[in-house]
Amino acid sequence: MYSNIFDTHAHYDDEKFDEDRTELLSSLPSKGVVNVINCGCDLASSLKSIEFSEKYGFFYSAVGVHPSNITEASYTELERIKELYSHKKCVAVGEIGLEYHYDFVPKDLQLDIFEKQLALANELDLPVIVHDREAHEDTMRLLKKYKPKGVVHCFSGSLETAKETLKLGMYIGLGGAVTFKNAKKPLEVAEYVPEDRLLLETDCPYMSPVPFRGRRNSSELIAYSAEKIAEVRHTDTQQLINSAAENARRLFEIE
Ligand code: NI
Repeated sequence: MYSNIFDTHAHYDDEKFDEDRTELLSSLPSKGVVNVINCGCDLASSLKSIEFSEKYGFFYSAVGVHPSNITEASYTELERIKELYSHKKCVAVGEIGLEYHYDFVPKDLQLDIFEKQLALANELDLPVIVHDREAHEDTMRLLKKYKPKGVVHCFSGSLETAKETLKLGMYIGLGGAVTFKNAKKPLEVAEYVPEDRLLLETDCPYMSPVPFRGRRNSSELIAYSAEKIAEVRHTDTQQLINSAAENARRLFEIE
């Protein structure tokens, strides 16, 4: 069993955890998990993230509006969400970004809300947690414009895009996708990222690593992704988990 697992991206407010949330979250420290950042996707889940961070010492929260959760009401929600950043366990603006795989939300609205949150992160001097699905060009354009500190989570871009992201000083978040059968790009990126810029994450309940693909994900399963990443980097898994945890504490300013 591994120790010092820092899950930098979780959604424990998801209804898939409704049945056994308290039991599961209380059990994480005994499974080697030392820290979790729960990412809000709208006002309601941002409030949940804050609530978890108050209940569990090892939890921290990110709050923001996810591109898939954007509605016309998001502008009003953002005003309320702004008030949450002063909470002592709120460490990032997230989850924010662009989702072009699903087109439920018009691109111009996504871009506007993303820009507003990037500007806010810079104003508050907080890192961002960025979602970029099939939107690499627009994401990179805005990251280059605002130059926030932060992480591009569940990184799915090419090696070239990874290099650009790193050049901006940002971190690369990797999780279950590195274990998938078609994981060519994520593994190239996993091999390339400097040891001090890599973060580990689950995106749970989604993105379960093989051999749990399709089932509910949770933080301790990071071990499977870490083993795969360590394998392509020819390094020790625990050492990789340790550096990733150290990176997360540096970026999110957690002691
Ligand atoms: Ni997410």
